[in-house]
Amino acid sequence: MATERTLSIIKPDATARNITGKIVDKLESVGLRVVAQKRARWSEADAQKFYEVHKERPFYNDLVAFMTSGPIVLQVLEGDDAVAKNRAVMGATNPEEAEAGTIRAEFAENIERNSVHGSDSPENAANEIALCFSDDEIVG
Ligand code: CMP
Repeated sequence: MATERTLSIIKPDATARNITGKIVDKLESVGLRVVAQKRARWSEADAQKFYEVHKERPFYNDLVAFMTSGPIVLQVLEGDDAVAKNRAVMGATNPEEAEAGTIRAEFAENIERNSVHGSDSPENAANEIALCFSDDEIVG
């Protein structure tokens, strides 16, 4: 197994409920290490750029509005197979389909207010990490 890095975002629905620590605990419990972390409030331009891949999707404008509605916590997670491991512990995008014990099954409110984002491939992880962090903010 290769050591990888992936980008994680704790979304505004979760920061509003003060459950950042509960989510980090879930991530750490599967062996992921937080090697960078910062709290931020995205501008509309930040959210539009990050989710550009979804620009043509019907939920794009709502997604941008939601992701700018409150603070978020951006993280770089490191570990063996970090991309897949993070996606497994997050659970399905729609919490109604998320496996028991996953972050979204336990904490997400609905498909939009789904508490966390995680990169979906090593290639996207590298791009998302570069978009959100400078090299000197990542301490492995
Ligand atoms: P995320 O992993 O951050 O990637 C895109 C986000 O769009 C997704 O999580 C959801 O929060 C949001 N979203 C809203 N509606 C949908 C939908 N119908 N299908 C997929 N993602 C959606």
